[in-house]
Amino acid sequence: MELLKEKILNEGVALSDTVLKVDHFLNHQIDPELMVEIGQAFKERFEGKNITRILTLESSGIAPSVMAGLALGVPVVFARKRKSLTLDENLLTAEVYSYTKQETNTIAVADKFISSDDSILIIDDFLANGEAANALADIVHLAGARVAGIGIVIEKSFQDGAKKLKDRGYHVESLARIASLSNGEINFLSEVNA
Ligand code: G4P
Ligand code: NA
Ligand code: NA
Repeated sequence: MELLKEKILNEGVALSDTVLKVDHFLNHQIDPELMVEIGQAFKERFEGKNITRILTLESSGIAPSVMAGLALGVPVVFARKRKSLTLDENLLTAEVYSYTKQETNTIAVADKFISSDDSILIIDDFLANGEAANALADIVHLAGARVAGIGIVIEKSFQDGAKKLKDRGYHVESLARIASLSNGEINFLSEVNA
């Protein structure tokens, strides 16, 4: 997605060999026009897959997911990281391991928001090691529903998340794929290899 790549090159900062900071348009300040285009791009990649619902994770997954939900005409559910749901809800939960924090956290979705006949598009802002997307897929399976695909805004292709998710049989579509972040330089995967 060209506009997204331009934004990443112009406003993104390679903080280290592994971390890309994009708080000008995705993780802190949000660019609404870019989000509309991201929603359209996800629609183009997943229309025809009979998506009935989008599942994401708070907080940075929500903006791109809402725009994709608008484009595809389906509701958007976000998994919560904190136990802020009322106690009488029946929760679907999964564990997410964070490599950077070296801790495991539980994410949760009220079971009334996913039904067994759902065909779910999972969306997230970043794909690194695939832990978050995989936990969202676990929640979909707990509900007896189907993962129709996984849509990622920025894939760090030098980490193994995309490979792990594809090896598990998931259809992964990433709007920008980063080959490396070495020496403060942001390099995308060439389209030939993409
Ligand atoms: P990891 O071990 O797979 O790297 O994941 P980790 O749980 O450590 O990631 C922590 C947060 O950082 C996640 O967001 C994840 O989406 C995000 N993240 C991973 N790699 C990058 C990166 O290169 N750049 C940026 N900007 N973010 C990255 P989160 O904690 O769920 O936060 P949020 O959704 O509330 O923003
Ligand atoms: Na984040
Ligand atoms: Na995230």
